Amino acid sequence: MRDSTPKVRLRKVRPSDASVLAKWMRKPRVPRILPGLKHASFRKPETWRLIAKSKIAKHFLLITAKSTGKPIGLSTLYKVNPKDRTCFGGMALFEESHRSKGCGFAAKLLQLKYAFQKLGAKKVYSKVPTSNKRVIRGLGYCGYREASLKTRRQFGVSSAKQKLLVLSRGEWKSRIKSLESHKR
Ligand SMILES: CC(C)(COP(=O)(O)OP(=O)(O)OC[C@H]1O[C@@H](n2cnc3c(N)ncnc32)[C@H](O)[C@@H]1OP(=O)(O)O)[C@@H](O)C(=O)NCCC(=O)NCCS
Repeated sequence: MRDSTPKVRLRKVRPSDASVLAKWMRKPRVPRILPGLKHASFRKPETWRLIAKSKIAKHFLLITAKSTGKPIGLSTLYKVNPKDRTCFGGMALFEESHRSKGCGFAAKLLQLKYAFQKLGAKKVYSKVPTSNKRVIRGLGYCGYREASLKTRRQFGVSSAKQKLLVLSRGEWKSRIKSLESHKR
């Protein structure tokens, strides 16, 4: 049994979050865990102030602890393709004291709800290092499957060190109730 009682909330990034986001982006593991955010500009608060006021703000959701309201991590949707209704999802809990308490999984469920219900995505992809067994296992509970070779080629995922996983809206819909009621 998994406890996925929401311990976290997701909300859009605000200009007042700029300093904490820039601080997180200076962490050395960012290029590996959120490759879309490795550009040096993300380490500057000004970039986040601009993002917060822009149309793409909806792709950056701050993960906050429900108990305190404090920011603990970031959920990102990237390579958002409105025509094909596809996107990629990534996330990290930068405040490490909040890890391994169910917050990551709860945030993943909220991210998927947002992508499928609010953005109208039909498929959500995830690119994960093959070594990250824990996240790969968790994505499996959510219903993700390995993408085909054709899709790997389409997104330029050639390294055997990376898994490309995909979750369809239908698969998500069929699992959401059991995931939210804590069953695997
Ligand atoms: C990965 C991360 C978000 C997980 O958060 P967490 O709070 O430590 O994880 P939880 O306590 O919620 O994990 C509970 C379960 O949910 C699953 N899970 C957690 N986060 C998940 C996610 N983002 N996607 C899918 N499954 C996830 C795990 O498989 C775990 O299963 P287990 O109990 O069988 O091991 C967090 O450890 C982190 O920020 N790590 C660094 C960044 C990173 O690796 N991001 C993923 C890049 S692909």
